[in-house]
Amino acid sequence: MTVYQATASAPVNIACIKYWGKRDTKLILPTNSSLSVTLDQDHLRSTTTSRADPSFQKDRLWLNGEEEEIKDGGRLATCIKEMKALRRELEDKDSSLPKISGYPVHICSRNNFPTAAGLASSASGFAALVASLAALYQLPTDASRLSLIARQGSGSACRSLFGGFVAWQMGEKPDGSDSYAVQVAPREHWPDIHALICVVSDDKKGTSSTSGMQRTVETSTLLQHRIKHVVPERMRAISEAILARDFDTFARITMQDSNQFHAVALDTDPPIFYMNDVSRAIIALIVEYNRVAVANGGKLKAAYTYDAGPNAVIYAPKENIKEIVELIVKYFPQADSFKDPFGLFSGKGVTG
Ligand code: DP6
Repeated sequence: MTVYQATASAPVNIACIKYWGKRDTKLILPTNSSLSVTLDQDHLRSTTTSRADPSFQKDRLWLNGEEEEIKDGGRLATCIKEMKALRRELEDKDSSLPKISGYPVHICSRNNFPTAAGLASSASGFAALVASLAALYQLPTDASRLSLIARQGSGSACRSLFGGFVAWQMGEKPDGSDSYAVQVAPREHWPDIHALICVVSDDKKGTSSTSGMQRTVETSTLLQHRIKHVVPERMRAISEAILARDFDTFARITMQDSNQFHAVALDTDPPIFYMNDVSRAIIALIVEYNRVAVANGGKLKAAYTYDAGPNAVIYAPKENIKEIVELIVKYFPQADSFKDPFGLFSGKGVTG
């Protein structure tokens, strides 16, 4: 008997230009384009196995060993349904293909890092889910096409289908067919950039991205300014900086955009605070580190960015990573709490 099963894995991505706000909550269409770096270290991945079998009663999914409900019309159900539809199209065209699109699937997914710690587990999770179903169904579709489906699982997931530097183009069409991810540059284009993750806290975060950003759309006037007058120019400028391997510009824009995202969260009613005192102290340290470099005639040496949680991600050229780790360990007496369980804080660098 043939076994229809496939495994795929996808990494976390960390945005430099943040996605924050949906214009369509069902299709997950964003209010602005975004851009991220996909981390390619083994520590931060979701790995997913999917199996189709006619003896299964229904679609089921386990995340880190615990079964998750697949709610009708929910994000998981939508992604599975869309992937089955792509398989069905293939089967309709080629009658020699086994008709597995009608079989229920069992899906098993694991993250090798804390779920919901502000480390974008939904991004790698839905990207791995879509990639494993694409492998199971042997779909000849490209990553941008698959990103249209991963996007409906979690917006940021569409960017994790590519490595390197990735843009999610917001698109304009109401059906979302032009809202997908594209690769701006592969990792090899700029291997010198590394990412350091400082796990300030691995508690589950207070306000989820999904509900937080919806509240922002409903109440923040600053968001309207951001999406109309700030992000389009930043997307253009940061893409250009990446292509030119211009770290100074890349760093400046990354920090500005992190700041504005957190300002927009604060401008929400009621306000949302994702960073804590330790997060802000790390910002102060990086600002001072850069100030000294510039005062000595140099350029920016590091860039911080924070997602919907207190953990810092610091992008820097490889040559600065050791110095940055030493600085953080020196200025944070509680540095032990920074030693995350995965050894990410080794300065080895997460590559994008
Ligand atoms: C701050 O992709 O988790 O990390 O689409 O509702 O699932 P949903 O939201 P999600 O939001 C990510 C927000 C962010 C910024 C980013 O990754 O661009």
